[in-house]
Amino acid sequence: MSSSNMKIITVIGSGLIGRSWAMVFASGGYSVKLYDNQPGQAANAITEMKKQMTELQEVGMLRGHLSATQQLALLSSHDDLQQALRGAFFVQECVFENLEVKQNVFREVERLVGEDVILSSSTSCLVPSAVFSLVRNRSRCLVSHPVNPPYYVKLVELVPHPETLAAIMDSTYSLMTEVGQVPVRLRKEIDGFTINRVQAAIIAESWRLVQDGIISVQDIDLVMSEGLGMRYAFIGPMETMHLNAPEGLGDYMKRYGEGVQRVLRSFGPVPDFFAEDAKSVVNEMCELIPNDEQHLSARRERRDRLLMGLARLKKDN
Ligand SMILES: NC(=O)c1ccc[n+]([C@@H]2O[C@H](COP(=O)([O-])OP(=O)(O)OC[C@H]3O[C@@H](n4cnc5c(N)ncnc54)[C@H](O)[C@@H]3O)[C@@H](O)[C@H]2O)c1
Ligand SMILES: *[C@@H]1O[C@H](CO)[C@@H](O)[C@H](O)[C@H]1NC(C)=O
Repeated sequence: MSSSNMKIITVIGSGLIGRSWAMVFASGGYSVKLYDNQPGQAANAITEMKKQMTELQEVGMLRGHLSATQQLALLSSHDDLQQALRGAFFVQECVFENLEVKQNVFREVERLVGEDVILSSSTSCLVPSAVFSLVRNRSRCLVSHPVNPPYYVKLVELVPHPETLAAIMDSTYSLMTEVGQVPVRLRKEIDGFTINRVQAAIIAESWRLVQDGIISVQDIDLVMSEGLGMRYAFIGPMETMHLNAPEGLGDYMKRYGEGVQRVLRSFGPVPDFFAEDAKSVVNEMCELIPNDEQHLSARRERRDRLLMGLARLKKDN
């Protein structure tokens, strides 16, 4: 790898996540070649990103040390995969969440790049051993799973294929850190990785409590946004427990462990999200926030504005 090759990253797929990755990598000073198999799509994406980056600069939330103009100069769009991959040391795939599509993309990519190029997928739900099954040399493959929107929510789960080299995990970890993301390593692959497994546990219990008539949809959301979530933006469940007993986590478990187990044993089976009475949960949500485009996009804008504020607060702390 020559030093100029070290600076080029190819992003495949220019949808929501591809654009965000491109902006994150450009903010770290990397040249980003954005490819999409829909002709013109990658170029449109860059036009869109230009607007976003200018706005981010105006509100002082542009990431990295370069100006919006400098970052934009690092972006290029490509309708030809071979051309898009030329010179890259790292490939971040962001195409549709479809196993066959991803398998074929990586098979094609492998034909066009050298053995030392790292192949990384953004998949949220597919394990690496499935995504990379058509790749010959899987020792340089991994999943780098972002959280939407990656520009404000910086966590990235790094999930190895059973054959992934430790050195590949290490280089990806360094790259993610360098561009300002917060990587975490999984030691092996598991369905749902970690973020979606924890999220599923929260979804299941929240759903059950509403469906069993214990609490309203509005109030269970407040339990998170005004209760647990207040801490979780800064300290996780482990540190929360560690701080909540005079002598830390061991002490916490001595005091509260049995109670936690008792409650856990009372959790019901996996909720049936498709049953007839599940509809009442959905309806209750839609009464609070109607599920039409106008209401939903207003709430999405609010979410992103608040996340930007939180990202700013975390940056200063
Ligand atoms: N949206 C999220 O919240 C989120 C969060 C984390 C991870 N992800 C993952 O990121 C990936 C992309 O999701 P998204 O929301 O950006 O989807 P999207 O539909 O917005 O974008 C997908 C893009 O890929 C392009 N594409 C499709 N097939 C292609 C191919 N063969 N070659 C090149 N480009 C191709 C499409 O034209 C489109 O522009 C998915 O695997 C998804 O699971 C999404
Ligand atoms: C497979 O990829 C790894 C990591 O890039 C590399 O070290 C190794 O030489 C490659 N194997 C072959 C057979 O080319």
